[in-house]
Amino acid sequence: GGSGKFFVGGNWKCNGNSESIKKLVDDLNSAKLEDDVDVVVAPPFVYIPQVVSTLTKRIDVAGQNSWTGKGGAFTGEISADMLADVGSKWVILGHSERRHILGESSDTIGKKSAYAATKDLGIIACVGEKLEERESGRTLDVVSDQLQAFADSLPDWSNVVIAYEPVWAIGTGKVATPEQAQEVHAAIRKWLSEKVSPEVASKTRIIYGGSVNGPNSSELAKREDIDGFLVGGASLKGPEFATIINSVT
Ligand code: G3P
Repeated sequence: GGSGKFFVGGNWKCNGNSESIKKLVDDLNSAKLEDDVDVVVAPPFVYIPQVVSTLTKRIDVAGQNSWTGKGGAFTGEISADMLADVGSKWVILGHSERRHILGESSDTIGKKSAYAATKDLGIIACVGEKLEERESGRTLDVVSDQLQAFADSLPDWSNVVIAYEPVWAIGTGKVATPEQAQEVHAAIRKWLSEKVSPEVASKTRIIYGGSVNGPNSSELAKREDIDGFLVGGASLKGPEFATIINSVT
């Protein structure tokens, strides 16, 4: 990686129970972690208080989603105010599972981002193309449109990490090659430089997600524009997640 402090997020998705999460937190608490890495874990909402109160290491907690506003009559939703209230410092927005399984549009994701930013939550802003989009040469168009929606709604980029997660690599065991990831990360940085500012481009961390694991993380971490990872499946195993955190170069 190159820009800023290495950043590793663990997205636990809809996994775990009180007991397995207790074990995972215990494993993280006893793991030896490099100092020079920001580490964030995103448990399912209902386990956030348990995780916040039992983590002893300097690991922050994120929500996996948040509502577009303050709350009210929105059955099943969780507001950014609530996330902040129970000790979350970050929120993941625009994850591909929210876009493609739950049908969230870039417009909705923009509204969520704008609101979460007012609650001082850091935003892990996810972008990434589907396989058919890559195969038809549209990767950069898709990613640019997704970035534009974030740019249109965020007040500033000081507390934002961009996660590039190609949909075809998520949960498939088919990790992007370091060259494929680096190519898109460099394009994202160029986009930031041209559409936002060179300063934001050089300061914003761009992390990679999609089948990252213990064995493949260090080659990816060496690439100039890969500033960390957003990890799904492998973040559910404490020792393997620690290996990924420690792949900082
Ligand atoms: O947000 C992380 C993610 O979508 C990647 O999942 O299981 O491929 O590491 P996984």
